[in-house]
Formats: sequence, C-alpha cells, structure tokens
Amino acid sequence: MAYSEKVMDHFANPRNVGEMKDPSGVGEVGNSRCGDIMRMYIKVEGDTITDVKFKTFGCGAAIATSSMATELIKGKTIEDALKLTNQAVMEALDGLPPVKVHCSVLAEQAIKAAVADYYKRQGIDPTPLVGEL
Ligand code: FES
Ligand code: FES
Repeated sequence: MAYSEKVMDHFANPRNVGEMKDPSGVGEVGNSRCGDIMRMYIKVEGDTITDVKFKTFGCGAAIATSSMATELIKGKTIEDALKLTNQAVMEALDGLPPVKVHCSVLAEQAIKAAVADYYKRQGIDPTPLVGEL
C-alpha cells in the first residue's frame, strides 16, 4: 500500500501534537476494530476554535489524519469544525488506502467529541448539535 507524500509528511512531522492546559473541550475516541485511541483538545474563544492539540495512540494514518484535522479546524468556527468530514480530511491528505479509511473516521469523531464536551461544559445538550457519538 502506498501513502501520499502529505500523509508521510503529517506522520513524520505531526502538527499540533501535545496536551492542552485548561482546554475548553476534550474528546477521546477509540476504534474498536484496531484498538487505537485519539484524544483531541480544543480552545474556544467566542465561537472560534483558537487552538487545537491532539494525542493519538495509533497507527501512522491515525496520526496523519489527526494532524491534518487539527490544521483544518484551527481558526474556524465550531459550526465549521462540526462540518468537517473524514472524507475532507482524506482529500486534504491526497487520499488514504482503503484499509486506512477508518483512521480518518476517528479524526472526525474526535473533533465532534471535543465539541460535545465543550457544549456540555457550557450546560448545553450537545446531542441535537453534534449528533450521537
Ligand atoms: Fe495497528 Fe491501529 S491497527 S496501530
Ligand atoms: Fe486503527 Fe489506523 S489502523 S486508526
């Protein structure tokens, strides 16, 4: 299987890796198929995501998709971040091999989980806004 140059770049030099002190929301998701775990931290000011960090315990594609996903939502509104699909993350990476599609799904879910946590902290029921996780 061949990875695109962008996937290799984000795997070798992942953006926004780490933890965040005092995040506005944290989402952690796991993939039952492979056991990988992704944790996403967001900082929200107004309705804008001003900072994003992630920690992924998983395969190279999971690391590359989390890295790309953080870049795609940083500076965006929460509303826009919720519209980010795994398809869009894959396209931004110039594609993934079929067996690695589920890794990009993890990235989409981790963002949604972080936003859901943010809403909960605001006393807002996230389900109608984020959907079932
Ligand atoms: Fe090997 Fe996910 S299946 S790290
Ligand atoms: Fe499981 Fe990539 S193989 S997230």
